[in-house]
Amino acid sequence: MLVAITRKVPIVACDMFKQHALTIRGGKNSTPPRRVELKKRVKGAHAILSLLTEKIDKEIIDAAGTQLKIIANYAVGYDNIDCAYAKKKGIFVTNTPGVPTEAVAEHTIALLLSVARRVVESDRFMRTGRYKHWDPQLLIGIELQGKTLGIIGSGKIGSRTAEIAHAGLGMQVVYSDIVQNPALERATGATYLSLDDLLKTSDAISIHAPLLKKTHHLISTAAFKKMKSTAILINTARGPIVDEQALVVALKNNRIFGAGLDVYEHEPKMAAGLAKLSNVVVVPHTGSATSEARNAMARLAAENIVDALSSRVPKNTIA
Ligand code: DGY
Repeated sequence: MLVAITRKVPIVACDMFKQHALTIRGGKNSTPPRRVELKKRVKGAHAILSLLTEKIDKEIIDAAGTQLKIIANYAVGYDNIDCAYAKKKGIFVTNTPGVPTEAVAEHTIALLLSVARRVVESDRFMRTGRYKHWDPQLLIGIELQGKTLGIIGSGKIGSRTAEIAHAGLGMQVVYSDIVQNPALERATGATYLSLDDLLKTSDAISIHAPLLKKTHHLISTAAFKKMKSTAILINTARGPIVDEQALVVALKNNRIFGAGLDVYEHEPKMAAGLAKLSNVVVVPHTGSATSEARNAMARLAAENIVDALSSRVPKNTIA
């Protein structure tokens, strides 16, 4: 049986396919394939191992053919896949939850601290030879101890971020989600709030929700108006959840203190003006970029494929 891989992933996935005598097509290039190439790549495949950079829509699913059994996304998020169409065709869609939790949560905290203590701005200050003498007013930041962290989306990554912030930094946690999360409340004493109340009361806000129609531009001009002028916004989830142009305006006008971004509305591009601002820290969607997480994601995606091609229901099937 044939596995089409859209781009290069850690070797552990290919090793597993070889062990199960599966034929591999693709997975050699590090750059995203063009649509025509992708359509050719998936033709006749029983499984597609996709990355978040590839849109697996009706056209690609149809190009694969009726033998296609599974689309295994190498990511927790699966907004790049037309899940409804796959379901209609009886094709499994799987993701890789759990394994990048620690990596992304640590990355979120790294961004939070970087923004609060102006680490990147300070680094640039040093490198450009602007440090002349110690100064009581130089690069003043914000302490996080005792401050309130608002978590939007209390899944695995949101919950772990809350735990680290609470246990490690002494932050109080509030959260907003479609359902209450008793485990998070027990672990951190977190308070369940409406999004509006979270925006008004949080000193730092961290987004961990999936990208859906109803979370698109969840954070827009209206939301920035509700936030404290000292608030920090962190987004390690999906770019389009934040109206990036509205964020540029909010940062420019010091409507909020700062932001830390791992993801972008029109990735890999940034909104006009964002790169010029000193109160934002920008990194290239590297939340899960640890060897531990990326290898585990490859293993899990491959296991899902092996399960589906062995007539088992893959454990990370998306409902
Ligand atoms: C995911 O898993 O959805 C991340 O964005 C990439 O690791």
